[in-house]
This record gives sequence, C-alpha cells and structure tokens, in this order.
Amino acid sequence: MKAAPKATILLIECSPRGAASCSRLVAQDLLARLQAVDRPARVVRRDLAADPPPFVDAAFAASLSLRRGESPAREAPALACSEALIAELEAADILILSTPMHNFTVPAVLKAWIDQVVRIQRSFRSTPEGKVGLLRDRPTFVISASGGLIAGPAARQPDFLTPYLRTILATIGLRDVSFLHLTISSREPQAFECERQRARAWFDERLISDRAMSTDTRPSY
Ligand SMILES: Cc1cc2nc3c(=O)[nH]c(=O)nc-3n(C[C@H](O)[C@H](O)[C@H](O)COP(=O)(O)O)c2cc1C
Repeated sequence: MKAAPKATILLIECSPRGAASCSRLVAQDLLARLQAVDRPARVVRRDLAADPPPFVDAAFAASLSLRRGESPAREAPALACSEALIAELEAADILILSTPMHNFTVPAVLKAWIDQVVRIQRSFRSTPEGKVGLLRDRPTFVISASGGLIAGPAARQPDFLTPYLRTILATIGLRDVSFLHLTISSREPQAFECERQRARAWFDERLISDRAMSTDTRPSY
C-alpha cells in the first residue's frame, strides 16, 4: 500500500537575532510538538532575516497595474520572487510564522514578504464588496515577541502587529490563524523561560484538544 504523502510545514522566521531569538526558539518548540503529535512532516524553512525578499520596485508595480479583468503573466520577470514565495505558501499544509515586534508592528523583512505574497489577481481579487482571498485556508500559527507588554491595562504601547497580520493573512484566504505573543522583558532574566513554559502549555492545549475533536486525517489544529 502506498504511504500517504507527508504534510508540509512552512516555517517563516523574521528575527535578526539568530539563535538568540525568542520567537525563533518558541517556533522551534512548536515545530517539535507538531512533529510529535502527527506523522513527521516535511519542513520548509524560509529565513527572511538571512535572505530578505526584495522591496517592491517600479517593474513590480507596473506588472500589477493592468486593465480591469486582465491577469498578470505569472512568468513576468519582476514577479519571479513573488511567484516563488506564493508557490511555497500554496504548497504548505501548515504555516508557522515567527516574528519579533519592531516599532509596534512587523519587522521590515516581514512587510517585504507580505508585499511579495499579497498580490492582486494571484493571492486575492478585488470585488465591490472588498478583497477576497484566493489561497486555500490552512492552520497558521503566529509566534510573536516584544520587549514590553502589548495588551491589558499595563500595556504602554499600541499593538499594530496582531491586527495587521490577522487582516492581511485573511485578505489572501488564511483565516485559521492562532496567535501566541511572548513578552520578553530584558529587565527580567526569567522572562524567557516563563514565556517558553507558557507557550508549551498553550501548544499542548491547542494541539491535543483540537486533535481529539478532529475526524479529518489531514493535520487540523
Ligand atoms: C528595531 C527594534 C524595534 C523594537 N520595537 C519594539 C517595540 O515596538 N515594542 C516592544 O515591546 N519591543 C520592541 N523591540 C524589542 C523586541 O521586540 C524584543 O526584543 C523581542 O523579544 C525580539 O524578538 P526576538 O527575540 O525573536 O528577536 C524592538 C527591538 C528592535 C531590535
């Protein structure tokens, strides 16, 4: 009998801090947990800090400005990177997005990725009722980290990261998104370990309980 194909997990990492990054470490914990609850998956790693996507330029913008109803040629040279990143996303059964908060929102490398991936007539279309996502929905985990609190009465800063990611991912069709935010105060040496433990409990709660309810054989978290 032929074995069922392995699921693919796309891990997107954005922190410039490499092995010292809290969001990367907790995303690795999640990856390990996912691999333990289900059959081991194929993992595709996209390190945006090591290999940042290009910023949108004139050729890219020109490829998008088409007459109504016209679709851009997928093979247009200016769209090559966009096409590759969208194809990578389409091939993923599960997406893990790990990111620090920079200046109340996503780091520039993640915004550059978003500008490549959120593309009219390819990953969304515009309708009189608003933008409609064209990608298949899939379980998506966002692991974000900040140095200060971003929610609750003690927060002293706005959070543009969470609502922005929720909206932009939904724009392309990704609505099954779970957010875990880590607050890593540099003034509290124990902060990371505490947040890591909390994250592990959160994974167990989400992955085990959701799995118990799932009758589907595809990964469903
Ligand atoms: C350029 C820069 C901007 C930052 N902006 C914020 C911010 O707006 N709010 C905040 O709470 N922390 C901010 N931080 C702190 C990081 O979010 C925090 O150190 C986080 O743990 C980084 O995640 P990482 O460990 O995965 O790199 C900033 C850090 C850097 C380097």
